[in-house]
Amino acid sequence: SGKRDLLGKRVLISAGGTREYLDPVRFIGNPSTGKMGLALVQAALHRGAYVTLVHAPIEWAVPQGVQAIAGVNAHQMQQAMLENFADADLTVMSAAVADVKPAEYSQEKLPKRSLPEQLPLAPVPDIVAELGRRKQPHQRLIGFAAQTGDIITPARQKLQQKKLDAIVANPIDKPNVGFGSDFNSAVFLDNQGRQIEIPHCSKLKLAHQLFDFVSGLYSRGQKT
Ligand code: C5P
Repeated sequence: SGKRDLLGKRVLISAGGTREYLDPVRFIGNPSTGKMGLALVQAALHRGAYVTLVHAPIEWAVPQGVQAIAGVNAHQMQQAMLENFADADLTVMSAAVADVKPAEYSQEKLPKRSLPEQLPLAPVPDIVAELGRRKQPHQRLIGFAAQTGDIITPARQKLQQKKLDAIVANPIDKPNVGFGSDFNSAVFLDNQGRQIEIPHCSKLKLAHQLFDFVSGLYSRGQKT
C-alpha cells in the first residue's frame, strides 16, 4: 500500500536481543534475531518516517537511510535509547532485553573449574519503563510482550505499569512465530481499551498492521 502516514515523523525502534556478558566468551542472552525490528524499520521507512534504530547484535544489514546505533547489553541500549527518545514522535521497543545480568564481569576468561555453581545475578534497567516516565504528551510509546500461555493478562499489566500507549502481545509457544521466524501472530492492545487479534502473517505485514493500529492514537495531543 502507499500509506505515507508517518511522513516526516521521527520513529525510534529498538531491535535484537541484548547480551549480558559474564566474561569475554559467556553471556546471558535470548534467541531474538531482530527480524521483527527489521520489519518495523522497513514499514516505517515505507510510510515516510525518519528512522533511528538502536540495536543489539542482529543477523541482517541495516537498510539504507536509517540512523543506526549498535550496542550489546541492556545498559548500552538504554544509553542509546535515552539519547534519542526526546526527539522521537513514536518509539517502538521491540528489542528482547535480558532481564538480568551476571553480577560481576571478568575481563579475563574464567577457567571452567572456577565457574561458580550458582551465578550471582543483578537486575538490568527496564528501558521502556524509563521511557514511559519521560514520555511527553505528544509522544507515543509501544512495547512488546513475548509470552507463553495467556498472552493477554501480562501484556495488559505491562501496558499499564510501563505507561505504554500500546503493546504487542506476542505468543512464542506456537509453531512458526516469534524468535527467528519470518512470521508472527499477535494481539494488539492499547491504553484506550482496544484489543485486536492479528492472525499469523509475515512480520512485515504485522508491522504495517501495528502502524495502522496506532495511527488513531497518534492524532491525540499532537501539535499540528
Ligand atoms: O517485562 P517484559 O520484559 O516482558 O517487557 C517487555 C517489554 O519491555 C518489551 O517492549 C521490552 O523491549 C521492554 N523491556 C525493556 N527493558 C528491560 C526489559 C524489557 O525495555 N530490561
